[in-house]
Amino acid sequence: MEKLQTQLSEINGMQIAQQTEIITPHQLLPEIVGLLTDRIGDEYKAHYFYKNAANWCREKAYFKAATFFEAEAANELVHADLVQKYLVDWNVLPFIPPVKMIPSFTSLIDIVNKAYELEYDLFAAYNVNSTQVFPICLATFDFLQELRIGQRQSVAEYSDLLNAAQLVNVSNNFEVLYFENQYFGG
Ligand SMILES: [Fe+2]
Repeated sequence: MEKLQTQLSEINGMQIAQQTEIITPHQLLPEIVGLLTDRIGDEYKAHYFYKNAANWCREKAYFKAATFFEAEAANELVHADLVQKYLVDWNVLPFIPPVKMIPSFTSLIDIVNKAYELEYDLFAAYNVNSTQVFPICLATFDFLQELRIGQRQSVAEYSDLLNAAQLVNVSNNFEVLYFENQYFGG
């Protein structure tokens, strides 16, 4: 009985791990964290842009465009969350860069122009980042695919709106109202 007790305590002893034995998990390379942090900043900037655009449209009584841009603003937060989740999955605490923007809009067409430029710039940035990470981290390259596809769709969406704006006389309020009604859903 005593022998059995000794064997049991020996086995239990073998099962006790030390804190120092715990493996420290890998983290992303600092250069990858840096470029993804820049993109988190861009996604929040896009969120601010669309939220301001939605407020502007609602105040001017472009209610369909306001609803459209509200949805865009929400989507940008989803994108920002995707990048933050990716960093956390790789044991990196994300830094959210502060957004410095004072939005000013002169018309619904001005918003569409600026939205196109914003989306195209982000499309270009995700493409550049993808080529940068491809030789050093395929996991990040794979992760960025979803964002590249999303950006391509956004660029196409705003291209459509720019082309549609060519179909109306944008100096005529009534035609702009028709443009809004026709192309901003509802
Ligand atoms: Fe986005």
